[in-house]
Amino acid sequence: MCLQLLLCRTFEHSPYYLQPLHPQARLLFIMPLLLIVFTLLLYLHIPASSAATDTLLAGQAFGVNDKLISKNGRYALGFFQTSSKSTGNTNNWYLGIWFNTVPKFTYAWVANRDKPIKNTTSLELAISQDGNLVILNRSTKSIIWTAQANIKRNSTTVVLSSDGNLILGSSSNSSEVLWQSYDHPTDTFFPGAKLGLDKVTGLNRRLVSWKNLADPATGVYCYELDPSGFDQLLLARLDSSTPYWYSGAWNGKYFALVQEMAQSVNWISNFVNTDHEKYYTYSLLHEKVVTRHVIDVSGQVKVFVWFEGSKDWQMVFAQPRTPCEVYAVCGPFTICSDNELLECNCMKGFTITSPKDWEVEDRTGGCSRNTPLDCISNKSKTHTTDKFYPVSCVMLPQNATKVEAAKVESECIQFCLNNCSCTAYSFSNDGCSIWNNDCST
Ligand SMILES: *[C@@H]1O[C@H](CO)[C@@H](O)[C@H](O)[C@H]1NC(C)=O
Ligand SMILES: *[C@@H]1O[C@H](CO)[C@@H](O)[C@H](O)[C@H]1NC(C)=O
Ligand SMILES: *[C@@H]1O[C@H](CO)[C@@H](O)[C@H](O)[C@H]1NC(C)=O
Ligand SMILES: *[C@@H]1O[C@H](CO)[C@@H](O)[C@H](O)[C@H]1NC(C)=O
Ligand SMILES: *[C@@H]1O[C@H](CO)[C@@H](O)[C@H](O)[C@H]1NC(C)=O
Ligand SMILES: *[C@@H]1O[C@H](CO)[C@@H](O)[C@H](O)[C@H]1NC(C)=O
Ligand SMILES: *[C@@H]1O[C@H](CO)[C@@H](O)[C@H](O)[C@H]1NC(C)=O
Repeated sequence: MCLQLLLCRTFEHSPYYLQPLHPQARLLFIMPLLLIVFTLLLYLHIPASSAATDTLLAGQAFGVNDKLISKNGRYALGFFQTSSKSTGNTNNWYLGIWFNTVPKFTYAWVANRDKPIKNTTSLELAISQDGNLVILNRSTKSIIWTAQANIKRNSTTVVLSSDGNLILGSSSNSSEVLWQSYDHPTDTFFPGAKLGLDKVTGLNRRLVSWKNLADPATGVYCYELDPSGFDQLLLARLDSSTPYWYSGAWNGKYFALVQEMAQSVNWISNFVNTDHEKYYTYSLLHEKVVTRHVIDVSGQVKVFVWFEGSKDWQMVFAQPRTPCEVYAVCGPFTICSDNELLECNCMKGFTITSPKDWEVEDRTGGCSRNTPLDCISNKSKTHTTDKFYPVSCVMLPQNATKVEAAKVESECIQFCLNNCSCTAYSFSNDGCSIWNNDCST
C-alpha cells in the first residue's frame, strides 16, 4: 500500500538523510564530546528550583496560579491559557505540562485537550475524596476533568517526575502507580515513555497532533504502533485508514526506514514485545540535552533540540522527510510544494477556505472553488463548459474509482464530465481513475 503511494510522488532531489538543519544540531549526533562541553555552557545559568514542589497531597489546594515543578527543574505542571489573535480563542484554559527551562513556552502534555476551561473562577486541581486526580470547580464542587483512575486505595499522592510524567500513586507505596500521564500522551513523546500497547488492559498509547498551533484539541494526525501487528510505527490521518508513513520493521536496533536512529549517538531505541506489552521507547544519553519529540499540526514527526544560543528549538529530525509526503497536508484542492518548509497553495481557480485557520496551520479546510462548476449551477449536464486543469507531480489522492470501461483518455474525461460529483481524473498506463468530491493530494 505504502509503495503505491510513494510511486506516485516525484523524488527529484536526493532524499536528505540526517542532514541537521542547523550546524549546531550536527554536534548532537556526530560529536558527543563537543556536545558535552557545549551543554555545560548551556546549563550554567539555569535557576535552581526555589521553594517549588513536585508533589500534590490530598487536601492541598492547587489553584490557577500554582505549579508543580519536577525535582530536576526540567518540567512544570500548571494551568495555562492559549492565545491566538487569529482565532480569538483567548479564553481557553488547560492543565498541562511544559518545559520549565525553556523561555519559549512549549507544552508537552495537556490533560483536558478537548474540554477547554472558559472561566478560572474557583478553578482547582485536587485529589478527590475517592483518591482520583480531578480538575474541579471549588464553589460548585462540579468535576471538569478526571484522570478516571481505577482507585482501590483512599490515600493517593500526585508527583511530577523528573522525566515529565505526572503520576498518581499510592501514598503508602511510592512505586504503586494508579494513573500516569505517560499512558495518556498528547502530541509529545517523552524519553522513557512508551508508544504502544498494554496487551492486558488494551491501553494503546499513541500521539495525536494539536488541532492547530494555538489549540491543543485532538487534531488530524496520529503516530502509533502499527495496529495490524507488524513491529513498526506508522503515521496516518485519523479519518483515513491508509497510513502515509511507515517506519519499516524493527530490526533489533532501529526501524528499517529510519537509519538516522542508528547513526545517532545520543538516542537509544528499544522495542519491547512481551506477553503483556508491545511498545517502542527511547532514551537520551546526555540527559542535559533538552529535546522535544512531537507530531506537529502538519503531520510530521519531528525531534527538536533546544539551543540556548539561538533561544529556539532546532529541528534535527523529521519523518516523513518532506512535509508534502503527509497525506492531504494542505487540504482539498491545494498544491503542496516539496520544500523543507511546508508551502501550500490553492489550485488554479480556488481560494483558501478559511484564512484564519491557515494562519494557525490548520489547513483541513483547504481551498474552495471561486466559481461553482457549470455542471452544478447549470442542470444541463450534457453540455457542460467545465474543463480540466492539469496538476503535475502530485501524490494521487486516495479513494480513486477505477473506470475500466474507459480505454482512452477522451473516454475517461467524458466519464468524469458526465458526473457532477467527479472532480478529477488521471489517465496513465494503469488506465482511467476518477475522484469524487474533495480532491486532496
Ligand atoms: C467568570 O465567572 C465569574 C463569576 O460568575 C464572573 O464574575 C466573571 O466575569 C467570569 N469571567 C469571565 C472571563 O467570563
Ligand atoms: C464555577 O462555578 C461558578 C458558579 O456557577 C461559575 O461562575 C464559575 O465560572 C465556575 N468556574 C469554573 C472553573 O467552572
Ligand atoms: C481509608 O481506608 C481506611 C481503611 O480501609 C478507612 O479506615 C478510612 O476510613 C478510609 N479513609 C477515608 C477518608 O475514606
Ligand atoms: C508497592 O507496589 C509495588 C508495585 O505495585 C509492589 O510490587 C510492591 O510489592 C509494593 N510494596 C509494598 C510494601 O506493598
Ligand atoms: C476512503 O474510503 C474509505 C471507505 O469508503 C473511507 O473510510 C475513507 O475515509 C476514505 N478516505 C478518504 C481520504 O476519503
Ligand atoms: C446552461 O447550459 C446551457 C447549455 O449549454 C447554456 O446555453 C446556458 O447558457 C447555461 N446557463 C448558465 C446559467 O450558465
Ligand atoms: C456519480 O458518481 C457518484 C460517486 O461514484 C455515484 O454515486 C453517482 O451515482 C454517479 N452519478 C451518475 C449520474 O453517474
